[in-house]
Amino acid sequence: MRIGAAIDARTQLFAVLGWPVAHSLSPVLHNAAFAAVGRNAVYVACAVPPGAIASAMAGLRALGIGGVNVTVPHKQAVMEFLDWVDPLAREAGAVNTVANRDGRLLGYNTDCAGFLAALADAGFAPSGRSALIFGAGGAGRGVALALARAGARRLWVANRTLERAEALAAAIAGLTGVATAVKPIPLDPAAVRAAALEADLVVNCTSVGLGHGGGGDSPWDDFSVFPPGTLVMDLIYNPERTAFLARAEAAGLRIQNGLGMLVHQAALAWEKWFGETGPVDVMYRAARAALAAGH
Ligand code: ATR
Repeated sequence: MRIGAAIDARTQLFAVLGWPVAHSLSPVLHNAAFAAVGRNAVYVACAVPPGAIASAMAGLRALGIGGVNVTVPHKQAVMEFLDWVDPLAREAGAVNTVANRDGRLLGYNTDCAGFLAALADAGFAPSGRSALIFGAGGAGRGVALALARAGARRLWVANRTLERAEALAAAIAGLTGVATAVKPIPLDPAAVRAAALEADLVVNCTSVGLGHGGGGDSPWDDFSVFPPGTLVMDLIYNPERTAFLARAEAAGLRIQNGLGMLVHQAALAWEKWFGETGPVDVMYRAARAALAAGH
């Protein structure tokens, strides 16, 4: 194997830590990018059980691992084992990237900026615009914060459990320097239809539709309520086209899946590790090829 053949005593090690993690596309993206730019590094996936994140961070220091990505369920728990956490990551309540700088572990969140970069790819600038977000978990929180910080005028957060949407709205209302109005709404037709009339952007941040086992499930079905030109995004990229996106497309709306966000958060992690953004095109190609091969 090409990557293995290049490994020597100077090879830097990187990893994604999650539980489960076998489905992660991150090793594919990063190893393709390392090969493309000739960086002597290798990226693996480590299944770290809940409760083992403290020892994983100690191991990172002891082994001199260059950096890691952190995914579910460790994004929050990892923070207390780091030497420093970027204020934006603290605000998001989640770290997805750790850089090991001479034994000091620094935590960042590249998901929020990755989401905004994916929106920019779709030609959408959030400033002064309105968005309807489905979901108020970790992913919904990151998206709402990113949009608020990017100057969105108004956000509706629709969630099955209304209390979580209310807590998210309160958290954003409490931020300094943010003027975005955030309205929590239940996941019911009347409330969603009212918000839909004014939304420029709709994002599925729920886990509904995830994986091929989720086929056919969608947090919302009737896209005829959205004005033409509305951009509909799903953070899910596998399957490539969720029922949520398929229905939006059938209603004539513009759609985008979560692959752009995945690629951009990975490219931005390189900034924290190496001081330069990763090669987005290489990462896209590698991710698409892996998905097409049934990853
Ligand atoms: P993540 O960190 O990926 O956002 P999470 O915190 O578990 O994961 O949040 C999952 C989101 O999907 C939540 O908004 C959840 O709604 P609840 O807060 O009501 O649990 C939403 N979700 C999951 N399954 C759902 C379902 N069957 N119908 C509607 N929403 C669902």
